[in-house]
Amino acid sequence: MPVEIVELNKSHNRSEFDCGAESLNLYLKVTAHQAQTKAKSKTTVLVHPESPKRILGYFTLVLAVVPSDDFPPPYCNQYKNGLPGVNLARLAVSLECQREGYGALLLVKALEKVLRVSEQAGCASCFVDAKNGAQAFYQKFGFIPLLSDPNRLFLPIKTIKALQR
Ligand SMILES: CC(C)(COP(=O)(O)OP(=O)(O)OC[C@H]1O[C@@H](n2cnc3c(N)ncnc32)[C@H](O)[C@@H]1OP(=O)(O)O)[C@@H](O)C(=O)NCCC(=O)NCCS
Repeated sequence: MPVEIVELNKSHNRSEFDCGAESLNLYLKVTAHQAQTKAKSKTTVLVHPESPKRILGYFTLVLAVVPSDDFPPPYCNQYKNGLPGVNLARLAVSLECQREGYGALLLVKALEKVLRVSEQAGCASCFVDAKNGAQAFYQKFGFIPLLSDPNRLFLPIKTIKALQR
């Protein structure tokens, strides 16, 4: 059955979501909606049209600037005042449907949104904090580890554009 990817709203059942990582469950339960109301972040959820309140996965985007000395050449030289971009602050899929391609689907959707930001404002990259050993997941899509912390990765906007073609 086709799934839907929509903006988080109050009708979604946030408290039942379980991806196996407590910090990511807690963020959705406690913080995501409030942070969105205050325009601090934007959360998008994956649902089945037949049970539209049940969240199967989600991601959260936040604007960010990362210091240039965190980046390998040529980025550290090209962006002396830091790289502006969008932070994929959270990405999680419910335990019941992990490894069915939904994480990849959500990531592609998130990158589409990053590309749209880049069409309207300065945005040179997508950043991510790979939690729970998820670096390999992001590296599959071309994300590159930052020098300061291999659990932090980035995907340059040029690569995102190429992926979307
Ligand atoms: C990490 C997570 C988002 C991946 O979502 P998913 O729906 O299970 O992954 P997909 O089925 O879309 O997998 C896409 C590809 O990535 C691979 N993959 C999935 N999880 C991976 C992981 N943790 N490490 C390395 N590769 C992974 C899959 O094998 C698949 O590869 P393939 O295309 O060669 O078969 C999901 O497992 C999850 O929510 N985990 C718990 C929370 C978490 O760790 N989130 C990371 C946030 S930073």
